[in-house]
Amino acid sequence: MAATAIRLPRSMALVAARRFSAAPALTATTRRCCIRSPTSAHILSTTTLRFLSNSSSSPAPPSVVEIDGRKYNTDKWFNTPANVIAAASRRLHLQEDHPVAITRQIIESRFPAPTFRYVNSLHPVVSTFQNFDSLGFPPDHPGRARSDTYYVNSDTLLRTHTSAHELETFRANASPGFLLSADVYRRDEVDRTHYPVFHQMEGARVWDRRTEADEKGDLTAAILRDLAKLQEHGIAVEDPNPPFHDETNPRQAPQHSPSEVEALGRHLKRSLELMVVEVFSRAKKAKALAGVETTDEPLRMRWVEAFFPFTSPSWELEVYYEGDWLEVLGCGITKQPILDAAGVPSQMAWAFGIGLDRIAMLLFQITDIRLFWSQDERFLSQFRGVSTDLDKLRQFVPFSKYPACYKDVSFWVGGDGSLHNNDVMEVIRSVAGDVVEDVQLTDSFAHPKTGRQSLCYRINYRSLERTLTNAETNRLHDDVNEALVQRLGVEIR
Ligand code: DAH
Repeated sequence: MAATAIRLPRSMALVAARRFSAAPALTATTRRCCIRSPTSAHILSTTTLRFLSNSSSSPAPPSVVEIDGRKYNTDKWFNTPANVIAAASRRLHLQEDHPVAITRQIIESRFPAPTFRYVNSLHPVVSTFQNFDSLGFPPDHPGRARSDTYYVNSDTLLRTHTSAHELETFRANASPGFLLSADVYRRDEVDRTHYPVFHQMEGARVWDRRTEADEKGDLTAAILRDLAKLQEHGIAVEDPNPPFHDETNPRQAPQHSPSEVEALGRHLKRSLELMVVEVFSRAKKAKALAGVETTDEPLRMRWVEAFFPFTSPSWELEVYYEGDWLEVLGCGITKQPILDAAGVPSQMAWAFGIGLDRIAMLLFQITDIRLFWSQDERFLSQFRGVSTDLDKLRQFVPFSKYPACYKDVSFWVGGDGSLHNNDVMEVIRSVAGDVVEDVQLTDSFAHPKTGRQSLCYRINYRSLERTLTNAETNRLHDDVNEALVQRLGVEIR
């Protein structure tokens, strides 16, 4: 989708565009049920950073790039900066004792083998077919835009979600269920909860009509038998929705009978509620172990209807947390054409997707996503030994914060007046790296006579690791200004 005019950051938009669901508007924080992290950009010299900025979205991209050990030819769709490529080989979800890996392990503990198989080492580069078409995304879906997604070339990209691997994993048909964790990539804002790389987990559970259906070919009884094997959690969950809604959240008729949809929905919801109960009770224990006061407030969860191109009906699970309802995951009954295309048309499935970084931040009380990518011992040492003994999990104790340094940059939008907020964010991040904590659009107006757009961004420079000198911050800010002019054609005011 080509930007024709300046677009406000999602948080400032009146109606926040939801990435993969066409339906209800969500806030910026709920849009991404997950979070992310680093690059080693903050340890590189300014010279290297200049190089990085040149290589990210410069007019002449490299003709071949190497991403996590594989080489790709680029074309004019290429828009992936070096700091993002560098992050593609970090695999935080597999790094022992890393909070993202620990979160993965906690969730996996609720979906045991051999029913569930764990798939954790998939390469981050996928085709547009895998990421979008195989899941039924329409050709004009906004998620496909270069402003939102990192492309290697016109039909190859850094996966934007783990759902990209659903089709191939259903096709492998190696177990009744799978959990698939991986790094995912999205162009977005710069703040303490957004990083261009983050982690998701995709889960699915299938039933097969050929082996499990009753004499009428119906799976209801088989699913209910499996439901009876799941624990009760004893927590009242708000769920005012019917099992499906013919107009807004339909069952897939005629393939799925009403009783199958109801049974599958109940199995899905109970499985995910149990997982959330596990995560939040671990968080509570971790607090107690760190000597932090805990409240006796019971966990509150609610189900809301949702829309995803690859499930129907679809829902989101929200948890009441510090005064707000927080979306934790999206899920639903897998669209039958996906299972048909995977060569398993006799199967029926549920699937979910959850952001690991966001959950890890809640679980450990980590307030800045950049910490996940940090090599700082004061951070890493706090989680030692937890991967092998989850009961050692202890809430993170923040270390001293270094001073913030705010600097503004105001400019006229150049050229045809089109500029995407994510482009501005990316130029800033690729020049200043992890030294940028937050970027906010603070002012926007059109010149009354010429109609030219003026924008002002406030950049908060704050290292996680040390106090920045004034001279250093000024230099970085000058570099940011220069890169904005060179790469986006703006005119500094
Ligand atoms: N892929 C979705 C996202 O990134 C999350 C998701 C929603 C995954 C529903 C699922 C699902 O498997 O059923 O926003």
